[in-house]
Amino acid sequence: MTAPTPAPPPTAAPPRLLLGLETSCDETAAAVVSATGEVRSSVVSSQSDLHAPYGGVVPEIAGRAHLERLPAVLDATLERAGLSRRAPGLEAVAATAGPGLLGALLVGLSEAKALALAWDVPFVAVNHLEGHLFAALLDHADLDWPVVVALVSGGHSLIVAMEGPGRYRLLGQTLDDAAGEAFDKVARFLGLGYPGGPAIERAAAAGDPTAFAFPRAMLADGFDLSFSGLKTAVVRAVSARPEARNEDVAASFQQAVVDVLVAKVVRAAGQVGAGGLCLAGGVAANGPLRAALEAAGAGLGLPVYLPGRATCTDNAAMIAAAAWWQLGQRGPSPLETGADPNLGLALLP
Ligand code: KG4
Ligand code: ZN
Repeated sequence: MTAPTPAPPPTAAPPRLLLGLETSCDETAAAVVSATGEVRSSVVSSQSDLHAPYGGVVPEIAGRAHLERLPAVLDATLERAGLSRRAPGLEAVAATAGPGLLGALLVGLSEAKALALAWDVPFVAVNHLEGHLFAALLDHADLDWPVVVALVSGGHSLIVAMEGPGRYRLLGQTLDDAAGEAFDKVARFLGLGYPGGPAIERAAAAGDPTAFAFPRAMLADGFDLSFSGLKTAVVRAVSARPEARNEDVAASFQQAVVDVLVAKVVRAAGQVGAGGLCLAGGVAANGPLRAALEAAGAGLGLPVYLPGRATCTDNAAMIAAAAWWQLGQRGPSPLETGADPNLGLALLP
């Protein structure tokens, strides 16, 4: 009698991986993320050096730079994830379809469709704003819904009650400039360079946030935001006191933005009975804003779900995370999906 052949050791199922591309503005980015939200690789090539001389993003330069940089960004992303370009074994390819700059969006979107066709896998078109809202989910698996999110970037400033992935209620939004736009404009006015957010934060670290009493627009009034009066107040204050230190102006401006955003998120949390507070978008990388929201959360006994600083500014890991959820809920996107520079967040009725 022969002994039964031992069963082969169970082989681990191959990881389910998705490639995301992001080219909506001035970061050329790609990432490979697993179905369980593990970021296998994430590469971001920032074009800020190209746009800095102009004090803001120049759409034609952005589109051209995406075209030039995307192949190398893609190669590095696949290589770091240990995948071959010829047969990476990915489950889907996703890209940002909007909102953003048309010429910039088209580069990533066309590339993702071409790769999906070449590799014979589904294509997923992702809303950039929804991508930002998924950034916190990469670092926090179990959120206590609903969470109130301040989605504050260079192009948008929204206060959103997120009841779960895909379930968004808009509580308020900026009536004029986006928060990041205000950082960029004030930095340009002070001669601090581009992008303005990090430059203001650096200068503010050596300044006095009480040096100037800048306005906190609509602080006690609903959930809408306004930053253009603050920007004008900075210009007026510096004209009246030309000897003022940039550091003090930057610190006072930053404090005004932080105070308004934190106050609105806290009040919104009370109104919707939030289980947590959250930040998203480039401005969410701001250290004093993060610290102030953490302190507010501690005071309220609410968890604060912050994306890592690098996942606040534009990246493709957040696009891939949103794409995984979308693929599961709604399935692939048609290859005919076009770029939409004005795409809005799909809101609950
Ligand atoms: O999300 P993002 O990378 O691109 C858009 O979707 O717009 O956000 C870019 C914006 C810029 O306005 C930039 O100045 C701002 O985020 N930002 C910051 C910081 N880092 C980036 N604002 C304040 N503090 C920062 N550390
Ligand atoms: Zn963004």
